[in-house]
Amino acid sequence: MAVSINPSILSSDLANLGDEVKGIEDACDYLHVDVMDYQFVPNLTFGMPIVERLLEIVETPIDAHLMIENPERWAPQYAEAGCKSVTFHYEAAKDPGQVIAGIRTAGGLVGMGIKPGTRLETVEELLPHLDMLLVMTVEPGFSGQSFMADMLGKVKRAREIIGRDDLKLAIQVDGGVGAKTIEQCADAGADIFVAGHAVFRTENPAKACSDLRALAQSAHDKSWWCGG
Ligand code: DX5
Ligand code: ZN
Repeated sequence: MAVSINPSILSSDLANLGDEVKGIEDACDYLHVDVMDYQFVPNLTFGMPIVERLLEIVETPIDAHLMIENPERWAPQYAEAGCKSVTFHYEAAKDPGQVIAGIRTAGGLVGMGIKPGTRLETVEELLPHLDMLLVMTVEPGFSGQSFMADMLGKVKRAREIIGRDDLKLAIQVDGGVGAKTIEQCADAGADIFVAGHAVFRTENPAKACSDLRALAQSAHDKSWWCGG
């Protein structure tokens, strides 16, 4: 199975966003767009106008990561606009089932994120309804933070449950993922990798994507869960 490299545009030069995304399009699988609302997290970033404009200028599918309150109300419109994958946070949802149904009805793949303090057991019964579980490897809100290696156990348990119950969802990791950490993530069970600083704060972001992909794919192919 092929791994997915999803650069987070939050670390790009936002004054040149169009050029930044065009520079990595051929080297990545999705563009990861961090939507923050000053409520769920202490930061404010992009909303629908930026997402809509990106959808016009790029071919690469968009992976919208919604760090916002009231996903019941806001999440479906990101799928309706054309984001291929829409991830909401479990902690922000009053009714996760409603959010899942809303995104799916609007035609999106459904992702659900959990913060570092949220136990996997709390969300286990929702896993069969998801296309992707996002295991945050930093506290959501900012790019450029240090990777929390103690989240790898959560990734591994999620992968074990997927194997045990023959589920189909993917596991995404987001936060502090780069050349020094991506192999551990793949080995633990992740197959979708978000990287902000490790892509855009380098001399050659497209090459950084390719290098990360090579590391992740080789660790994935050798991993316990992939039969390597
Ligand atoms: C953090 C965001 C991440 C962030 C990743 O809340 O969800 O997507 O931009 O940036 P790095 O890879 O620099 O930690
Ligand atoms: Zn993110």
